[in-house]
Amino acid sequence: MHVGPGDDFRYKQQLVALLRATRLLPLAEWFYARGKVRAADEANREFREKHPDIALPPPSLIQRTYGNPEYQSFHHWGWNNAQEIAHYIQQYAPVESPQILEWGCGLGRIASHLVQDHAYTGVDIDRSSIAWCAEHLQGRFTVNNPNPPLPFPNDSWDVVFAVSIFTHLSEKAHLAWRDEIFRVLKPGGVFIFTVHGEREAGNLTDADRQRFDQGNLVTKSGVAEGSRTYLAYHPDAFVKRHLTAPFEPVAGPETACNQTIYVRRKPA
Ligand SMILES: C[S@@+](CC[C@H](N)C(=O)[O-])C[C@H]1O[C@@H](n2cnc3c(N)ncnc32)[C@H](O)[C@@H]1O
Repeated sequence: MHVGPGDDFRYKQQLVALLRATRLLPLAEWFYARGKVRAADEANREFREKHPDIALPPPSLIQRTYGNPEYQSFHHWGWNNAQEIAHYIQQYAPVESPQILEWGCGLGRIASHLVQDHAYTGVDIDRSSIAWCAEHLQGRFTVNNPNPPLPFPNDSWDVVFAVSIFTHLSEKAHLAWRDEIFRVLKPGGVFIFTVHGEREAGNLTDADRQRFDQGNLVTKSGVAEGSRTYLAYHPDAFVKRHLTAPFEPVAGPETACNQTIYVRRKPA
């Protein structure tokens, strides 16, 4: 019995590859997103009515950041991922009440469930996301530039976490941000980050899969780096080679936050 991806999947893969190559993916995305946001209208209205106390960003912004405009999914997975991150913080933070930085906080999907109980700061390159978070959530929120440095002195944070940020960056940016996160962590501080690992690499083309299996970072570009549709896939060998030193390995690869998670520590 054939259990691999079906023809529909292959056609979609080829269409997206063509749109990337011709730089038309953002335009196609724009039309696609409008349809998805409209289709989610009624469910989103019902969710808002049932949960008037939950701060919810505009569906168009949620779609742009996460590829799914539905409040139910945004809230459910935000809560779920926040519990997982809170668990890693509790297990590995060097102090009981850590100073926490989220690098790439998006629309506060995770932050909104953490800010009440933690000393939390979020940064992101997306100005409209940061503006929404600053207006609607507790915690501190700041825009950062696509390239380092962050606006913080050396040795500022006990914990830095990053859910699905390396997944949208080039190899060059991985190395620059690895060094920058190391700089802003306090000695003994931990870096918790997710990548597209083995489990998430299942939908690569055969050629990309071969590069992945050889230990190379695989990137899918044709769109702005850092945007949702710029994709990076991380074999464990790449993470060990490039995202471990100068840190000490603590945990990972493990499955969490719907991706593959690693924990690294800055030597004390
Ligand atoms: C898929 S979203 C994840 C957002 C958030 N971490 C979450 O899980 O809800 C990726 C986010 O990374 C942000 N981003 C991309 N490149 C970045 C960079 N160099 N520095 C900070 N944020 C970045 C994007 O603007 C976007 O908000």
